[in-house]
Amino acid sequence: MTLEPNRVREEKLLEKIAKGGKIEDVAEMSDEYREHLTNLMMMQADSELAGAFGYVPWIQKSPDIKETLQVAQIVKDEVRHARVMYRLLEGLDVDVDAYYKSHNFNLRVDAGDIGTLRAADDKRVNIFYYPIEEWSDFIMFNFCMDRGAGHQLEDSLDCSYKPWCDGMEGIFKEEEMHMAHGDQWTKKLSESDKTHDDVQAAFEKWYPRTMNIFGRANSPKNVLYRKYGLKKRDNDEVRSAFAADIKEKAAKFGLKVPVWTPVAARMSDEPFIPG
Ligand SMILES: [Fe+2]
Ligand SMILES: [Fe+2]
Repeated sequence: MTLEPNRVREEKLLEKIAKGGKIEDVAEMSDEYREHLTNLMMMQADSELAGAFGYVPWIQKSPDIKETLQVAQIVKDEVRHARVMYRLLEGLDVDVDAYYKSHNFNLRVDAGDIGTLRAADDKRVNIFYYPIEEWSDFIMFNFCMDRGAGHQLEDSLDCSYKPWCDGMEGIFKEEEMHMAHGDQWTKKLSESDKTHDDVQAAFEKWYPRTMNIFGRANSPKNVLYRKYGLKKRDNDEVRSAFAADIKEKAAKFGLKVPVWTPVAARMSDEPFIPG
């Protein structure tokens, strides 16, 4: 099939999106739209997969058999999310098999703070480079990161690419369950004198890392993503929604929200995507 010239595709696509229409077919995409869409979906796919691999040791290291099953279920959910996203990418002609074989999604960094840097050539959001060393880290991942992902992914649920919206429905529901798991455990650990300080310390570690995932305010990339209907809000708007949500939860569970200062020079241009 011969495609229409890129300029024509771009005009038609923008017109359709402006009217609230959704893109369903690759033939409708302009080169630019396809490039930005691929980039965003790749970030999500890689993050889902790296997230799953980071959780794997906790199937065995969890506090009891009930939690072993919970963690195994969460690992399965994340691998499923990755699979859903990679299938969509295959639809855009990405050679997923070759990509999967040539990247190490098990790679983790040894540093406490890598700011917004990437540690390898995969596209995962950089929070997924940190290792999960303690049970309270695992819980904080559910409490902070899954919550952050939820806020970020709200935009994808109703984005301009219909197959992505469809895939997101199931993913979003499962992320809400991960978050609920984080909330139950955060409450439990915070209420006990034995574990309160540990969970507060883990919160201090994971909260700033999560605040960094959203990308910097007024980023030119975000403007483009919004033009193409792939995002709806500025990075900083999403971050503020997450911060307000977590502030309320932390107050309920007796945790103190750590101070987070945006360092403009270190903020990535990219918005984050999920876990
Ligand atoms: Fe996920
Ligand atoms: Fe998750």
